[in-house]
This record gives sequence, structure tokens and C-alpha cells, in this order.
Amino acid sequence: MTGTTTSLTSTRRLGTAPRPEELDPAERYSADELAAVQFDRLQQTLRRAYDNVAVYRERFDAAGVRPEDLSSLADLAKFPFTTKHDLRDNYPFGMLAEPMSNVRRLHASSGTTGKPTVVGYTDNDLDAWSDVVARSIRAAGGRPGHMVHVAFGYGLFTGGMGAHYGAERLGCTVVPASGGMTARQVQIIEDFRPEIIMVTPSYMLTLLDEFERQGIDPRSTSLRVGIFGAEPWTEQMRVEIEERLDIDAVDIYGLSEVMGPGVAAECAETKDGLHIWEDHFYPEVIDPFTGEVLPDGSEGELVFTSLTKEALPIIRYRTKDLTRLLPGTARSMRRMAKVTGRSDDMIILRGVNVYPTQIEELVLHTQGMSPHFQLVLTREGRMDKMTVRVEARPDCPGVRRDPAATELAKGIKDGVGISTEVTVVDPDTLERSVGKLRRVVDRRDA
Ligand code: DLL
Repeated sequence: MTGTTTSLTSTRRLGTAPRPEELDPAERYSADELAAVQFDRLQQTLRRAYDNVAVYRERFDAAGVRPEDLSSLADLAKFPFTTKHDLRDNYPFGMLAEPMSNVRRLHASSGTTGKPTVVGYTDNDLDAWSDVVARSIRAAGGRPGHMVHVAFGYGLFTGGMGAHYGAERLGCTVVPASGGMTARQVQIIEDFRPEIIMVTPSYMLTLLDEFERQGIDPRSTSLRVGIFGAEPWTEQMRVEIEERLDIDAVDIYGLSEVMGPGVAAECAETKDGLHIWEDHFYPEVIDPFTGEVLPDGSEGELVFTSLTKEALPIIRYRTKDLTRLLPGTARSMRRMAKVTGRSDDMIILRGVNVYPTQIEELVLHTQGMSPHFQLVLTREGRMDKMTVRVEARPDCPGVRRDPAATELAKGIKDGVGISTEVTVVDPDTLERSVGKLRRVVDRRDA
């Protein structure tokens, strides 16, 4: 069953298209209008970066390009890439294009190693961010007057505050729940009766378990729309969440270096990938090895150039996220396919590339298996080994576990091409996520 099929049978979903007059003018641009706005803004952004940020000036000079060399959007390919390393090397404020007196807010992304990357926003940047998040919530089915429970973390992470101000901008009532204190979140949802929840898909699963633990049928709650992001999740996970909660589950994408949540978002009426808000963020997909720009439709690494940002203009930022650019559907702006994974998260097991999302699809296809699983990497001699540790569903009888494990191992062998060990563990034994989930436990150097 697909998410779309489920929504046809539901009476609660909000997934109707906004009326044209409800959209932002930019959402109704023709291709030519959009290209003209993008070109104009791109010229200004390159100029702002070159004039105000020493790193960009040095890079452009070294590559022999000047902002005035841009005579078409395609010329952007002449300009050098920016990476997370550039932000780290210029920690904390070396890439800001505005004096601190004009920077109204800072956020930072923790990263797993080394220093965080710091990002800054002017008043206009915060305004534009709220606009794109408001647009994203509307695309998901949200309207003024709805109540939005924000369970993304608040703090240096962009998720909580980004969602918060966007929901306020749309005219919603915001519940700034942040992450954690799961039992209390469930109580608040029961008592306040929000229509919309914004949260990581993995924390949604934790909340779902808590509803059930408290004896509440998740399908009976007030929630009608879930806007999920900050980590990769699959179509199969959409089906799982939509069925257990009887809601529309849609995807929201973003990254702190480019803005935060709301760089791209899915429309509830189509659920066919995420429309990139291209009037603010110009996307390219490149070959991650050669850096060559690929034609739309090809899978590769997503690269973004900001078009309106003042405090931290970002030129050709390599996201490491793997996806494809697709033509517009519910909106005229281009879509990106659901992110397969980050090149960082790719596991190379005996020469085969594996993404955790591939395993997620297969786990959720296996009867008796819950969506809670971990990938444990170990080394035996010179051979790497992957063990899939997956929780049984509470209603899965003990005798079903071995056949389910065999079925999953076979599915992974046939579908992905690697041999794995599958261990089915008791319900409620794996660590739960309260924010971004870490699927992979790498013990190869232990
Ligand atoms: O995760 C911003 C965000 C918050 C997006 C809330 C959506 C909702 P960072 O912490 O900088 O920012 O992490 C950015 O998270 O490069 C992707 O690898 C991953 N990511 C974000 N959204 C999605 C998504 C926020 N919808 C990194 N699907 C990105 C897959 C996602 N991966």
C-alpha cells in the first residue's frame, strides 16, 4: 500500500492543494520569471560574497573568476565549491559578510567531530527563512489557525526555531515542545490537540511507542499532518507512520549552512518529492568525484547557492546529500527526490556501497519487524561484517523471529548484494532517538 492510497481512505487528512491566491507570488512564477529573478539575485550574491568575505575573494581570484563573469545561470559552474571545511577553517565568524551588529541570530551545527559550523542571519535573512518555512507548512496542508507542535530541538540546531517562526508566520499557534521528555509530549498532544507535528521521523516513532505505552490509540489523536525531516527516511517509513497515526506524512529538507529547515518541502497533495524554494536557493547536482554538473534527473551530490542571504552568502555549497533534481509538479519550482543518504553515511562493505535507507525499506517490508533497527559494523580478521539488530514488533510471536530474520537477511542479500547477520531483539531494547538518529554503530576500530 502506498501513502497516497492510505490518504484516500482517510477522513482526517488535510492534504488539499492551497488555492492559487493562498500561494506566495514566487510559487506562481513562470519558468522565465523564476530564471530572471534567480539570475539577478545570483549576481548580487556573488558580488556580496566577493566584496565582503576574504575566503571567497581568494577562491574566486585563484580560479580566475569574477562576479561579473556570470552571464547566465549556467556560468555558476565556473565558480569554486564551498565545503563544511571552509566554514570550520574560518570558525567562528570568518565567512560572515556583515558586521556582527547586523547579525541578529547565530546557529551552529554540532557535527560529530571537531568544531561546529557557525551560521548567522540578518533581520532580512530571518524574514526570508520564516517565509520559506511558512510556505513549506502550507504545502504540507497547514493553514492559518492550525496548531503546530514543534518537537524539533530548540537551541543552536536550526530545526526548532526555524519551524517555530515559520509556523507563526503562517498564522498558526505554535507549541514549542522541543525534543525530549517524551511522556510529557504525549500528554501535551492529548490536551492541546494540535493538528500538525514537526519532528524527526525517528523521534515520531519514539512518540508513537509512548502513545501506545500510555494506552492511547495514535490514530485517535488530533494530529492530521506530520512534517518530518532533518534525517533521511524512506517511502516505507511514510507508510508506517501514516498508517499508525492516520495522518499525511510529508518531508521537509534543509541544512544550517544554507538556512535551516525549509530549503525544500513536499506538497501533501502529491507527496512526490520536495519542491526546492528556488527563488531563495539555487540547486545543482554534481558528480561527487569529478565535480561536473549533471543534467536534471541524474543521481548525484546536491549543491546549493543562496540567492538572498545577507549574513552568510553561500556559493556552491557541497551538501554531501545524494538525490536527483526533477521537474515541478504541484508547484512550478523543481523538486528533489527524497534524499537517499549522505555520502558520509555510505557504508562500504566488502566493496559494496550500502545506505541505511536501503536497509530501512527492507526491514519495514519484513513482517514482524519494527522500524527500530541498528547497523553494527565489526571487523573479523580483514573482513568487515554488518549485523542488523532489529526489534521485533510487540505482536510478533517468538516463533516468527527466526523466519523473519532469515527473510530479512535474504532480502538484503538479493536487494543490496551483501551478506549480513540479522539479530532480532525484544521490543523496546534499542536506544530511542530524541532528535537526529544515528543508525550506524561502527566498531571496526574497537
Ligand atoms: O537538519 C535542518 C533541518 C531541521 C531540516 C529540521 C529539516 C527539518 P543540519 O543539522 O545542518 O540541519 O543537518 C543538515 O541533515 O545535509 C541532510 O543530510 C540531513 N537532512 C535534513 N533534512 C533531511 C531530509 C537540519 N528531509 C543535514 N531528508 C542535511 C534527508 C535530511 N536528510
